[in-house]
Amino acid sequence: MTEAILLVGGKGTRLRPLTVHTPKPMVPAAGVPFLSHQLARAREAGVEHIVFATSYLAEVFEPYFGDGSALGLHLEYVTEEEPLGTGGAIRNAAERLTGAPGDPVLVFNGDILTGLDIRALVDTHTGSGADVSLHLTRVEDPRAFGLVPTDPTGRVTAFLEKPQTPEEIVTDQINAGAYVFDRAVIDAIPTGRPVSVERETFPGLLRDGAHLQGMVDSTYWLDLGTPQAFVRGSADLVLGRAPSPAVPGRCGDSLVLDGADVAPDAKLAGGTVVGPGAVVGAGARIDGSAILDGAVVEPGARIVDSLVGARARIGARTVVRDAVVGDGAVVGADNELRCGVRVWCDARIPDASVRFSSDQ
Ligand code: GTP
Repeated sequence: MTEAILLVGGKGTRLRPLTVHTPKPMVPAAGVPFLSHQLARAREAGVEHIVFATSYLAEVFEPYFGDGSALGLHLEYVTEEEPLGTGGAIRNAAERLTGAPGDPVLVFNGDILTGLDIRALVDTHTGSGADVSLHLTRVEDPRAFGLVPTDPTGRVTAFLEKPQTPEEIVTDQINAGAYVFDRAVIDAIPTGRPVSVERETFPGLLRDGAHLQGMVDSTYWLDLGTPQAFVRGSADLVLGRAPSPAVPGRCGDSLVLDGADVAPDAKLAGGTVVGPGAVVGAGARIDGSAILDGAVVEPGARIVDSLVGARARIGARTVVRDAVVGDGAVVGADNELRCGVRVWCDARIPDASVRFSSDQ
């Protein structure tokens, strides 16, 4: 049996205001809390016991997922009094693991959507005899990431901070946020203070001559840390581009959940999801977007690549493109929201008061 720790305690600052009331892993993607997709994929790969490392808004996870039996999993929850960072959280959660030193422990960041072959990562770990094995993915523009070069056998040779100059881009491989640890390595992480695995534990292990193995798996991978990425991930789940057994319906151009009310002539496309209790009015056009539970899109509104929060309202003929509207916000009629704008939870924007283009 393989055990896993799921890191779900981050504040999700880059996603605000989506994370004001909801921790990032619980924000709905394709109609269910994002975490449901990760749990279903882990279960499919044979993982049975998962410990949640919680901190920010810790209280919301257990009431939703319970002991995990409905998912065929055994779930436990550990909460940090003060956030301990990724490494501290892993060390703290390990008290609930049953394995012995030498046993493999899977660790997942709670905000990654990926088609990673989880068993292959565990097999790479066992086969190479590594202390820690890391899923690496290749990205076109590695400037925003820490780089992880490897030698021809896949052994990690360095952890490099975000590269500043072209010469510093020595590889396109980055840390993809899924690891297998030897249990003994977790037990050696210091207790009682914040520790970052990325910045402290991994570079420290490398300096001490430990064996860190990289496994490049170039299947679907997306870090849902920003609003744009989150919206993209939700649409890819609906479209079937990102694999998940937890999508609540058939994959296709759009997904309308039970209890949503969509006008017959409204047009939904590009992986749009409409959550339970949401209403989409006549002639509205929604493309590549997520309309969360109980939100209202009034007639003739146009929404593209955006997220409309729970119980929010988008007025008639308003255009929302590449934007996030927080839970409970009310955007009046005839507005134009674009270019990454974030409307805060419960904000009120009167009719015809925000534009990005001329009204004539
Ligand atoms: P940003 O604030 O937007 O950077 O998001 P974040 O807080 O989620 O940080 P980041 O994306 O770097 O975190 C990677 C993973 O580790 C996520 O799944 C977080 O939930 C988790 N994480 C980060 N810090 C902590 C922590 O202090 N405790 C726990 N339990 N998890 C954490």
